[in-house]
Amino acid sequence: MGFRDTPAGQAPSPNPQRDPQRDKAELFTPELRAAIDHWVAKYPPEWRQSAVMPALTLVQEHNGGWLTRELMDDVAAYLDMPPIAVYEVASFYAMYDLEPVGRHKVCVCNSVSCMLNGSEELIGHVTDKYGVQPGETTADGRFTLKEVECLGACRHAPAVLVGKTYHECLTPQALDKLIEDLE
Ligand code: FES
Repeated sequence: MGFRDTPAGQAPSPNPQRDPQRDKAELFTPELRAAIDHWVAKYPPEWRQSAVMPALTLVQEHNGGWLTRELMDDVAAYLDMPPIAVYEVASFYAMYDLEPVGRHKVCVCNSVSCMLNGSEELIGHVTDKYGVQPGETTADGRFTLKEVECLGACRHAPAVLVGKTYHECLTPQALDKLIEDLE
């Protein structure tokens, strides 16, 4: 039974193959396992799959900003989940990338508040100046431009996430400065 089939309110049965399954996560370093275990420990043992999002984030960071099929399979094995359930999470949320990315990610929110306050101008500016469409990486590999959904900073739109830092009320000139400061 996959966890999606579990009746509401019931924990899935413990997987008797749990430890051998986790050992299949052979791409994980001891440090990565420890970092994931930190998140797993926040949930009851039978709900270790609840740590799937931080686990994917950690694995992605460890792999230069993107997730391979093999790494997602390892996350599934490590968290006792069906691989398809991990693929669903990784392909649904914009913070996960399934193809190689640049050294940095420039994520421009293009949801309603930001769109009404100039996000399309920001995207157009970056597209024109740096020669990248949303989803593409600059020729020098410096950054990947991403168009994302609401970043939760609507009050100070338009908002852009560069790496792990939020920037608000951006103009094309201010965004240029942020990009120029990237290594
Ligand atoms: Fe852009 Fe919410 S709409 S941060």
